[in-house]
Amino acid sequence: MENNVIKEVLITMDQIEKRCEEMGEMISKAYAGKSVLLVGLLKGSVPFMAELIKHLHGDIEIDFMDVSSYEGTESIGDIKINKDLDQSIKGLNILLVEDIVDTGRTLKTVKTLMYNKGAADVKIVTLLDKPDRRIVDVDCDYVGFEIPDAFVVGFGLDYNQKYRQLPLVGILDERVYTK
Ligand code: IMP
Ligand code: MG
Repeated sequence: MENNVIKEVLITMDQIEKRCEEMGEMISKAYAGKSVLLVGLLKGSVPFMAELIKHLHGDIEIDFMDVSSYEGTESIGDIKINKDLDQSIKGLNILLVEDIVDTGRTLKTVKTLMYNKGAADVKIVTLLDKPDRRIVDVDCDYVGFEIPDAFVVGFGLDYNQKYRQLPLVGILDERVYTK
């Protein structure tokens, strides 16, 4: 399947594993002696969350949220919560886990929401960052890989809900859109 839909492999599974190990060490050090709740944004963050937490030591818990943005809106704050967190986050250290930061709208909004719900601290870890596409300023504390402005799939990232299972990150062949 990869041969048919992937135009170019940007990141291999081997590179992802190594980077998750490095980021895990960094994050473990940063949160030494503190507790942290990792909040994964469904569904794209699932493979990354699973890989990253293998390398986290210390007092961690995980939870997931599902948010979607309202189509056509330019304003920040207009997101719909399809699945909320299972617990109160008052006073907690939160680490938001995302597959990719594109315009930055999603994370900026969710970060603000976390503080509004009383989180003590909110940081961001993302597997991928497309800095060229940024519209809204959002600080990413931990970035796995910076990638060029291209539509990518694999390791959680989808096109119409497909290709999330690919053990790589690659640029989707345009033929897939035009079929
Ligand atoms: P943002 O709010 O524009 O930063 O949106 C980020 C979200 O857009 C990500 O969580 C993905 O769901 C989606 N997205 C952005 N770029 C890509 C891509 O290249 N492939 C697949 N999904 C993407
Ligand atoms: Mg997403």
